[in-house]
Amino acid sequence: MPVISVTSPKGGVGKTTTATLLSTILAERGISVILIDADPNGAVSLWAARGAGVPKNLQVVPAGAPNEFVRQIDASAATAAYVVVDLEGRAGQMAAYATALSDFVIIPTQGSQLDAEQTVRHIQLIKDQERVSRRRIPFAVIFTRTSAAVRPTGQAFIQASFAEDGIPTFATQIADREAYRAIFSFGGTLAGLKDSGARVGKLSSAIENADAFVDELLQQVAA
Ligand SMILES: Nc1ncnc2c1ncn2[C@@H]1O[C@H](COP(=O)(O)OP(=O)(O)OP(=O)(O)O)[C@@H](O)[C@H]1O
Ligand SMILES: [Mg+2]
Repeated sequence: MPVISVTSPKGGVGKTTTATLLSTILAERGISVILIDADPNGAVSLWAARGAGVPKNLQVVPAGAPNEFVRQIDASAATAAYVVVDLEGRAGQMAAYATALSDFVIIPTQGSQLDAEQTVRHIQLIKDQERVSRRRIPFAVIFTRTSAAVRPTGQAFIQASFAEDGIPTFATQIADREAYRAIFSFGGTLAGLKDSGARVGKLSSAIENADAFVDELLQQVAA
């Protein structure tokens, strides 16, 4: 039912990582998920085809052409408990359609001023889609690739300015972890990496962190 889009006009901020972590963890909790790969580079589809493959409750599908995309999202929402859409790093038509149809939009950002500026601009696109669809579209920014140990001054400044401007932000940050790269090398999920006994640094911390993000997302969607 709920449609969650992961979007940002900035490339390489962690959209695909965030969308994949969310989809796999939901599926491993027994929730049926359709993950729509709406990036022509097909990173999610490549991951799904690799190694251990995808959990049984998760279906990865490529996005249809723009003129089919809206119906594809609606049809997916009618069959799966959750639909997650991974978008390419630009504010194009697909991002606008996905945003308009979303129950929640996640905007990953890294803690740099350049990313923050793009994030603020992107929120305008969400506000425009709210006008188009004449409804509120809940969204929140998530800081990704953060340091688990320290919070750099620049990032703290950005967080404070987001708070001042009333920009909703996840309390959970997705730290920079080897495990979040490893799933794209080996395929499969964080839990699968653990079961395989793969020697991936701080895997348990990565699993805890990703679980906390999914818990917070579920709370936000229910709110
Ligand atoms: N939390 C993280 N920990 C470690 N590596 C990460 C993390 N998030 C992203 N990365 C790495 O950073 C790079 C970009 O991440 P990702 O592909 O998720 O971003 P994206 O926003 O989807 O990029 P694009 O705009 O190209 O689609 C990848 O090499 C990915 O493995
Ligand atoms: Mg991507």
